[in-house]
Amino acid sequence: MSVGRTSLANPANLVVAEGIAKAYGRVQALAPLDLAISQGERVALAGPSGSGKTTLLYLLAGIVQPDQGTLAIDGRSLARPGKELASLVGMIHQQYDLVPHLSVLHNVLAGRLGQWSLLRSIVSLFWPQDRHLAVAALDQMGIGDKANERTSHLSGGEMQRVALARLMVQGSRIILADEPVSSLDPARAEDVLGLLADLAETSGRTLVTSLHSPRLMRKYFSRVIGLREGKLQFDMPAQELTEEVIRRLYDLNNDSDRQAPGDTP
Ligand SMILES: Nc1ncnc2c1ncn2[C@@H]1O[C@H](COP(=O)(O)OP(=O)(O)OP(=O)(O)O)[C@@H](O)[C@H]1O
Ligand SMILES: [Mg+2]
Repeated sequence: MSVGRTSLANPANLVVAEGIAKAYGRVQALAPLDLAISQGERVALAGPSGSGKTTLLYLLAGIVQPDQGTLAIDGRSLARPGKELASLVGMIHQQYDLVPHLSVLHNVLAGRLGQWSLLRSIVSLFWPQDRHLAVAALDQMGIGDKANERTSHLSGGEMQRVALARLMVQGSRIILADEPVSSLDPARAEDVLGLLADLAETSGRTLVTSLHSPRLMRKYFSRVIGLREGKLQFDMPAQELTEEVIRRLYDLNNDSDRQAPGDTP
């Protein structure tokens, strides 16, 4: 079977989803979808509100289970997500999931929790483990000097960098980011996407990110997947994405309240 640009049978595939679907009550959030993603791809997910982007990311992260179909990551079925998944898939949510009253260092090290025993996780709350890893990641993000700050004292942009540093120490092979730039000013959006794309590229990791700006998709991603009402609309190289393709994806049949996104994030 061939899906979009990638054959499901290709052994280079890191993610292979066959017929995965998810409904919430009577809402079909994601219709049965076949999807293959190979290592190192940077995939942008586009689509209007309610099109199923977060649902797809949650399925890939093992946060929700598909109603049907199969999902394998690195050849392993995600039927029973567990600790192992943390080393394969890391997710950055829009709110970054940082614990405000903990130090920056503790928040970064929370990225390791999935790989730790319960005892080690509890001990780490009092005495950060793998401190050098966290400091190196914060240094790389340009905020090494903030390691011992209380996280709630940081600016929004600094918190994003903490969340990225956490992804780095987590070392997962796939990074999922749900609208990481939707509430940022244009310069900071570029900054965050640049960091994410760099992080993925330099370490050969795979990136799947939902966002709305076609310009940013072309600049930082290799492939764009369009969803609408839970259905796949297109799957194409980012370089081929035109404003018209995006306009049609977001055009909600004369719903004048809704605008297609322009070139701002
Ligand atoms: N936990 C839930 N319970 C009930 N319905 C849900 C739930 N999560 C999502 N849905 C519904 O599933 C559909 C897809 O939602 P999803 O959050 O995946 O869309 P999205 O593309 O991420 O939208 P947005 O751009 O607004 O974040 C929507 O109709 C939504 O209302
Ligand atoms: Mg969403």
